Amino acid sequence: MSKVGMTGWFGVGISVGSFFLISWTGFSQQGGPPAGPAQKVDWTAFLPAGEGKFQVAAYCPLCHTIQTIVSDRRDDESGWMATVERMVEDNHAPIQDDDIPVIGKYLAHHFSRSTPILELPIHINTAPKEILVMLGSLSGAEVQKILDARAKEKVKDFKALEAIVGSGKLSKYESVISFGDGSDKPK
Ligand code: HEC
Repeated sequence: MSKVGMTGWFGVGISVGSFFLISWTGFSQQGGPPAGPAQKVDWTAFLPAGEGKFQVAAYCPLCHTIQTIVSDRRDDESGWMATVERMVEDNHAPIQDDDIPVIGKYLAHHFSRSTPILELPIHINTAPKEILVMLGSLSGAEVQKILDARAKEKVKDFKALEAIVGSGKLSKYESVISFGDGSDKPK
C-alpha cells in the first residue's frame, strides 16, 4: 500500500467516516428480511478483516454505496482489478497505483465467484464460513470459535454469541444476526 497515498486520504477518511455513520442505507430490496421499518445497514461493516480492507473501506464508499460489492457482486482477481482500474480511469477515483492490486486481491479473495451472496439477516447457526467472516469486526480465530461452538450446540441467542467471541465485539450487528435453524436456513 502506498504510505503517501493513504496518509493523504486519512483526513478525508475521518470526515467521510462520520458522514457514513449517519447515512446508512436500507436493506436490499430483494434480499432483506421482513424487518422493522427502522432497520439500517452500514455495508462497510461487512468487509472481512484482512489486508486491503482499509483501502476498500476508505476509497470505494467515496462515491457510491458498497452494498452491491459486499452483497452480490462476485468476480475473480482479473475481473475485480479491471473494475477498480475502470473506477480510476472512467470515474476518476483517487486511488493510488500501489493500492489497486491490494484492493483487487482483497476483493477477489473475499468476494470470489464461489463466495455466497450475502443476505441479511446472517444466520449464525447455519451460515457458511465465507458469510461469517463478513462480520468484519471478527478475526479469523473468532469466526472459528463460532464454528466450533455451533458444531457442539446451537448458539441460542446474542448473549450466547457474546460469550463465544467476547462482549461488545458484535454489538453493531445485533439487528442483522439471526439464531434460527433449519426453518430459516439460507439456500
Ligand atoms: C470517484 C468515484 C468512485 C469511486 C472512488 C469508486 N467508484 Fe465505483 N462507480 C463510480 C460510478 C460513477 C459508477 C457508475 C458508473 C460506472 O459503472 O462506471 C460506479 C460503479 C461501480 C460498480 C458497478 C459497475 C460495474 O462495473 O460493475 C462497481 C462494482 C464499482 N463501482 C466498484 C467500485 C469499487 C470496488 C471501488 C473501490 C475500489 C469503487 N467502485 C470506487 C464511481 C466511483
